[in-house]
Amino acid sequence: MCGIIGAVADSAIKPVLEGLSRLEYRGYDSSGISILADNEIKTRKVQGKLNQLKRLLSEQPLEGKCCIGHTRWATHGKATVSNAHPHQCGRVAVVHNGIIENYLHLKEKLLQWGHHFNSSTDSEVIPHLINHYLSQHLSEEDAIAKTILQLKGSYALGVLINGDSNNLYAIKQGSPLVISQGVNGAYLASDAMALGPDSSKIYYPKDNELIKLTSHGIKLCNPSANRKIHYINNSYCSKIVSKGEHSSFMEKEIFEQVDLLNSLSVDRHASDYSTINFNDFNKITIIACGSSYYAASVAKFWFEKYANILVEVDIASEYRYRSPVMTHKELAIFVSQSGETADTLAALKYAKANKVQTLALVNVANSSIAREAHFTFEIYAGPEIGVASTKAFTCQLAIFYKMCLEAAQQRAFIKFDELKQLQQNFLQLPYLIEKILQRCTEIKLLAIKLSRYSNILFIGRGIQTPIAHEGALKLKEISYIHAEAYAAGELKHGPIALLDEQMPVVVIAPKDSLTDKLLSNIQEVQARNAPLFIIGDASIRDYINLKEDEFFELPPAPESIQPIITVIPMQLLALYCAQTLGKNVDQPRNLAKSVTVE
Ligand code: F6R
Repeated sequence: MCGIIGAVADSAIKPVLEGLSRLEYRGYDSSGISILADNEIKTRKVQGKLNQLKRLLSEQPLEGKCCIGHTRWATHGKATVSNAHPHQCGRVAVVHNGIIENYLHLKEKLLQWGHHFNSSTDSEVIPHLINHYLSQHLSEEDAIAKTILQLKGSYALGVLINGDSNNLYAIKQGSPLVISQGVNGAYLASDAMALGPDSSKIYYPKDNELIKLTSHGIKLCNPSANRKIHYINNSYCSKIVSKGEHSSFMEKEIFEQVDLLNSLSVDRHASDYSTINFNDFNKITIIACGSSYYAASVAKFWFEKYANILVEVDIASEYRYRSPVMTHKELAIFVSQSGETADTLAALKYAKANKVQTLALVNVANSSIAREAHFTFEIYAGPEIGVASTKAFTCQLAIFYKMCLEAAQQRAFIKFDELKQLQQNFLQLPYLIEKILQRCTEIKLLAIKLSRYSNILFIGRGIQTPIAHEGALKLKEISYIHAEAYAAGELKHGPIALLDEQMPVVVIAPKDSLTDKLLSNIQEVQARNAPLFIIGDASIRDYINLKEDEFFELPPAPESIQPIITVIPMQLLALYCAQTLGKNVDQPRNLAKSVTVE
């Protein structure tokens, strides 16, 4: 979740600071840099966001040709300056992303050897170990290699060594790392998106492959020394991502959804889906975390209804810790915007090890999950910077919808006319989403009223249940209002006990086959005097009398595509509640965009 970056270049601090800005979504508890200058490692670290570090550097500037930087999402140790990276010991400074699971044991050993620690992090043992081996006259490469042998857990490291020349080393195990050789320098980063315009060619190192970055170029160290590095194109290179005229990246990304759905309507990716023969499988398991999990939960409804295929949906962090029954006729789909979520990646490796066919559904091409799976489909949402997922969620749904229709066609479960109708429905999405976005100020009215409450329940039925969960997740992530979601029929089995004047209920109520059932649930809420907010079909108003700041009218839409439409007001509701409460919607507390630790 932390972001690491390094550069060997003239004025190396510039690409490092620029890279840190692009990496800040990975954590923003603290940040820091170390630079080799005048045969000395100089370090600046701050608690809080990156602009604090930039301010410090403008007061106390640094220059040099070899630099590492870090932006932190705290795991071991609070967000303090002493726990901020880089960590230094003697000739060595290190930035680390990941978790060293045996650090307590290593720290104890180092304390016995007389080392003193400045932080309560797991990472600090790494520079201590490397420095220890350097002091035993091991070469830089051997000192790092010997250190690595002792680490248990996951890591991507940038290691700066004050030696005869300006050298930077990179090595990883389990955590994402990318290397680039540009015209003006050599670079490392935890994400291709962090690399600047000089990084059109990139290389993803394998686990425990030690790489040396020097002013003369990049070299693979032993035992891979004779292997050539095969660079690939960096699709993120020189893509400038800015908020434009929007108040936040999240707002921009919500409003981008019309164009994205438009471009997904063009069937240029249809051939991708036909690479899978859905007749080869009698079960699909979809595994993901957070919003991606809710997208998977919507897909289950589609696959079962239109393709008659059994689908199980699993939370990635749980999957390999139970005993899932796997069969050779099973397709396991791993959904991840970032393609780097450690839980999802570990679940994917587990399924592969059990001989299950795996498919990755990712936004970031070449991400770890994309590279690990047998098949990969992209969702083409473009870089998503706001920590709360919005456009990636709708694109995940859109790709799942198309995949389901491909499965339906291959398995000949529905009639040709119905299939054609379902395909036509998809084409209505950009227009329907635009209609909602044009009326965003109406949702603002609901948000202003809702944001006065401390607890909120979201309910929906059938395929809208995962959308209710997504709405509640979005709201709590960025507004810090406590929100929970239930299948509406479940209310009476417990949560109804919570209802009173202080517990509003947000109902997702499009016109569908379950509207009548949902109306009964709405009556139950009203009977308990709970404030009611409905995102629903106009016809609901014939039964329930609500004010304009309590009801948002959904445009009429075919039932099959409704989840891709109803989620839009959920996103706007969360955005406007958070804005009403003055929260930073792009960088909510305690969260990071890419969750690369388990
Ligand atoms: C919610 C959110 C998270 C992610 C989750 C999985 O707004 O962004 O819940 O959906 O951390 O991330 P990916 O999809 O990158 O695996």
